[in-house]
Amino acid sequence: MKLTKINLLNFRNCGNINISLGDKMNIFIGNNAQGKTNILEAITMLALTKSHRVGVNPNIIMFNKKKAQIKGVVKKKNIISKMEVNITEDGKNLKINQTDIKKVSDYISNLNVIVFTPDDLEIVKGSPNIRRNLLNIQLSQISKTYLNTYNEYNKLLKTRNEYLKILFSNSIADKTYLDIITDKLIEKAIFIYQKRREYIDLINIYIDKYYKEIVEISGLKVIYQTNIDFDDYENEVMRKKMKHIFHKNYNKELNYGMTMYGPHRDDFYFDFKGNDLKFFGSQGQQKIAILSYKLAEIPIFTSICETEPLLLLDDIFSELDIKKRNKLLKFINNGNTQTIITTTDLKNISKKYLNDAYIYEVKNGNVERK
Ligand SMILES: Nc1ncnc2c1ncn2[C@@H]1O[C@H](COP(=O)(O)OP(=O)(O)OP(=O)(O)O)[C@@H](O)[C@H]1O
Ligand SMILES: [Mg+2]
Repeated sequence: MKLTKINLLNFRNCGNINISLGDKMNIFIGNNAQGKTNILEAITMLALTKSHRVGVNPNIIMFNKKKAQIKGVVKKKNIISKMEVNITEDGKNLKINQTDIKKVSDYISNLNVIVFTPDDLEIVKGSPNIRRNLLNIQLSQISKTYLNTYNEYNKLLKTRNEYLKILFSNSIADKTYLDIITDKLIEKAIFIYQKRREYIDLINIYIDKYYKEIVEISGLKVIYQTNIDFDDYENEVMRKKMKHIFHKNYNKELNYGMTMYGPHRDDFYFDFKGNDLKFFGSQGQQKIAILSYKLAEIPIFTSICETEPLLLLDDIFSELDIKKRNKLLKFINNGNTQTIITTTDLKNISKKYLNDAYIYEVKNGNVERK
């Protein structure tokens, strides 16, 4: 798929941007604080309805304005669709081809994006919920069933936790109800575990190959960590194991008043030649590991969705040495994926990789094609 046009109104410092994008590489150049990341954020919101940024002002409507709007035209196998997100102080409204879309799950598969940002270092270094969040966002884009199952799991989890507290404080409460919820929860959990396992296995098919293309050394893989050890990911084996774990830990969960086992406690880490990159990797190494993870998502998305996703790379060249910058560009240039890159400059970038690129200058919330 290709995002052919983008139109922003009062989105952060972008008052009115209306541009066409190239099918391959698009580079937004500008000094600090001009609006480069804001543009990528807008594209992410157009795709996922949510911002990918953490720790920035959540109010994305331009100061002193009432409404922000993001519009985009997406071409998928010659089918054109118009996507639209309107943001007011009261909330968001989503549209496809001018028709209101009520459910996020009916909206988000229309534009698939893979985003890389400088904050992504937290994927290696930060807490497990950051990594779970990443898995959820990506799996939700490629599987509506995953998104729905994940939401149902969370509802059941909440109910189960509440009921554990009731059981703890009320001696006449009935445990049968807990067992019913537990059985339902297990079914959702099995599906989530299986999908995450499958996804990480797919990542491992590509990640080391891409890592090697950029740094010329191999040995990277992703290790999935669940807090229940499964010998097998077959339904019945998993069901039996989970029932056993919940049975065994009933008193413990009762005392804590919460569900302590399940995919809500999942994690993964980056293993480089037997070491966890969180503790042994340099900042640059960690950055390239995450980047390779994101690049590995391209063939996965492409085969599952039968169309290529859009790759968004924010401030990609910082912390990469000249050789690696060019290796990365070569890699992108060789592929067919539509890519949007932001950078403060194109110093030391080989011109031969920029032949097909659309280059834009971003200045004070405005964009001009060079
Ligand atoms: N709601 C808003 N209304 C108006 N301006 C905003 C709003 N939210 C953020 N901004 C401003 O947008 C400006 C551009 O931010 P952005 O993060 O896009 O910069 P950037 O070009 O990516 O810079 P850098 O190279 O430092 O990453 C910032 O100065 C910020 O204060
Ligand atoms: Mg930025």
